[in-house]
Amino acid sequence: MKKQEKKSNVSMESHLIHGVACTPKWEYSHHVVPPLSSSVTYRLDSVERGLAGFKNLAKMHATDVDTQPTYIYDRLDEPTRSMLEDQLAYVENGEVAFCFATGMAAISAAILFSLRQGDEVIFHKTMYGCTYSLSANWLHKYGIKSTYIDMLDPDNLVKSLNPNVKVVYFETPANPTLELVDMKAVADIVEAENKKRPNGREIISIVDNTFGTPRCQRPLDHGITATAQSLTKNVGGFGTDMGGAIITSKKYESEIMLYRKDIGGVLAAKCAWPILVYGLPTLVERGRKQQESAYKIAEYLENHPKIRRVSFPGLKSFPQRELAERQMRDFDDNFAPGNMIYFVLKEDTEEKATQLLNYIAKNAYSITLAVSLGHIRTLIEKPGSLTHSMIPREEQEKARMDKSGSRLSIGIEKADDIIAGLDDALKNI
Ligand SMILES: Cc1ncc(COP(=O)(O)O)c(C=O)c1O
Repeated sequence: MKKQEKKSNVSMESHLIHGVACTPKWEYSHHVVPPLSSSVTYRLDSVERGLAGFKNLAKMHATDVDTQPTYIYDRLDEPTRSMLEDQLAYVENGEVAFCFATGMAAISAAILFSLRQGDEVIFHKTMYGCTYSLSANWLHKYGIKSTYIDMLDPDNLVKSLNPNVKVVYFETPANPTLELVDMKAVADIVEAENKKRPNGREIISIVDNTFGTPRCQRPLDHGITATAQSLTKNVGGFGTDMGGAIITSKKYESEIMLYRKDIGGVLAAKCAWPILVYGLPTLVERGRKQQESAYKIAEYLENHPKIRRVSFPGLKSFPQRELAERQMRDFDDNFAPGNMIYFVLKEDTEEKATQLLNYIAKNAYSITLAVSLGHIRTLIEKPGSLTHSMIPREEQEKARMDKSGSRLSIGIEKADDIIAGLDDALKNI
């Protein structure tokens, strides 16, 4: 059986379709589609083999293993999930990936695996509501401090560093406002700080790549330590399964595998399979179509008299356009601003936005009022009242979230149908 070459000269687009067709992680040579494995436990030839498997847990997980791994028990390692992990590591230029049951399971693991009591995590102040809730409601219970800064100016990070800081965490583009953080600038600051630190006390920088997806940006290429992301969204793509992943270098493999083994929250093989078989192979094509529509819809909204402001990294008016062009690049190095749009009504009140979204919920055929994002269907929501409602209003204001701020995740419907739905709703409020 021929093993898949790691860095072949085949395009990423094709690699995402054929990726793990031949792998030592599964004994097969005739399947065209990767198999869905469904076994919680694995027969061991001997106690010694089982013991060796436990000892080699992290090493066997690595992508460059060319002998058959010793599987023991699903929560430790499992072939279908492991094939998805190989693909995810490849697509984001990481050495290893670890899949979790949800995006939040991956994010909490990425933040927590290296921390101990007394440590501090610095967050960019605009982020997904549940990540904020994790930082505000849980970390302090374990003696971990959460600090919120404005990372749009990287100098704020320099000013906030102290020996207790162990993790720097941000989203770019941020949910929901789509503002960007300069990944290279943050990575450089962290690298300079790490040079002064003793072994084991290095800061880990983490980017939530849920909005960007590996199609639009590969944070590790900019010097970021790890990405954490929800696979429930653009990577899964069809809205049928939840999942999350951490992608990083081998240096952290044993610690993350140990964390996942003991804290649990591992991705079920039955959920890994659709992401591997449908999600990743269609990521580029779905993303291309969604992005093409996002350009048209953002321009339509920007020219509408009832709209005050539209945030979409592809717009000429986007305040961080130069940074967007620098760090949001697809696999062919084209500018890739993605499929997410945030907009604010001229009459910037919660009532007006609620009226708009309720009208859409009742009347728009091609737009669905629902949380989540990155699906083939266009979804609209009002973050201040839904996905980010656990963030107090004063904190939402600090995070530059407007009262009428609405978030659109563009699907693969015809752009004109989405625009027609928005146009009708805007006329009727
Ligand atoms: C930016 C971002 N990160 C993480 C998550 C969490 O993902 P999941 O719902 O898969 O736990 C979400 C969910 O909306 C999100 O928008």
